[in-house]
Amino acid sequence: MLKQETIGHSRFPHEQYWPPVNAANEFSLTLNELLALNMGELTDKLQEIISATHNEELVNKYLAEIYSLYYGYKDAPRIDFWEKPEIFSRIEFIKLTLEDFFINTLLKSRYELPEISSAAQVGDYLRFFVEHNYGVSHAFFDFVADEMSEQQMKEFLLLEVIRNEIVDDEVALMVPGLQYSMKQVVVSNLWDECGNGAIDNFHTNWLRRLLTAHDEWSNILTYRAEQKPWFASISSNSFNAVLTTRFKCHRAYGHFMTTEAWVAPHFKKILQGMDRLGITDQNVRVYFDAHMRIDPHHAEEMIEGLLKNTPELAQVVLYDIIKGAHQAAMAGEMMYDKLLEYFRGNGH
Ligand SMILES: [Fe+2]
Ligand SMILES: [Fe+2]
Repeated sequence: MLKQETIGHSRFPHEQYWPPVNAANEFSLTLNELLALNMGELTDKLQEIISATHNEELVNKYLAEIYSLYYGYKDAPRIDFWEKPEIFSRIEFIKLTLEDFFINTLLKSRYELPEISSAAQVGDYLRFFVEHNYGVSHAFFDFVADEMSEQQMKEFLLLEVIRNEIVDDEVALMVPGLQYSMKQVVVSNLWDECGNGAIDNFHTNWLRRLLTAHDEWSNILTYRAEQKPWFASISSNSFNAVLTTRFKCHRAYGHFMTTEAWVAPHFKKILQGMDRLGITDQNVRVYFDAHMRIDPHHAEEMIEGLLKNTPELAQVVLYDIIKGAHQAAMAGEMMYDKLLEYFRGNGH
């Protein structure tokens, strides 16, 4: 229960809309073009997109736009889907077709599925996996720590804000379908994301402080619309693919466990980069400092929640958790490979 006086209370200004997105009244031209097709034409067009040489980019751009509809912030056109069921069914068709290609082809796992038959074995496997996959010590973060220029760091921080701006909602979407201790740890994670009831400790509030400190509130809108590289959405798209698809909460659980375990090793390097560049402002650092402490617990809790879940999870569910963990690792690798190439190529 909240104390009355804490409701709506903050020490910081909150005039700015969160997340920092551009308002949209209609779908993008490209999505509109797809929606104008009949189902036969649409099926052909989607195959064309999937076979295109720059299919990675197209698929990620469409998916990123579609996911915004599932959250309902002002970047999602306000369309009454009850009045237009044919549009919504087509959006779902586009979404599921592109996701199938994204997950099963572009993010095809090079990690083999282990032989498992109990939650205890999955727990052991994942405890090792989340600390030893290729993404944990990805070379991109060495670049951030040792080489990234101040200008690039500012840009990378914008990308981090964008990547994390609705983590609380993402965690919330993971809840339905989980039970007992897995639900317990995810709900606790959501409560942490929401500052244990204190607005100033909402994790997104730390991102607001970063934007204010760097005076980036208007810049982030232009950056998002005109400059943000498409590949910066890969890991969010991968997570959203499982969060917004029925019966995929267990994949989401494994997915999130992997990325939570990455936070400490990655943020450590980001903070080293900030040290090197003389970025000492606590408003900029707070998001990263705080998560260095919080997220190792979150990752560990998710393993505990899995181990202590009862009744015993079905084998298909156990495999879903592992597949989710593998998918997150593949998505992160793909994104960080491309980010490394991008920032190496535009050094200034
Ligand atoms: Fe957080
Ligand atoms: Fe966390």
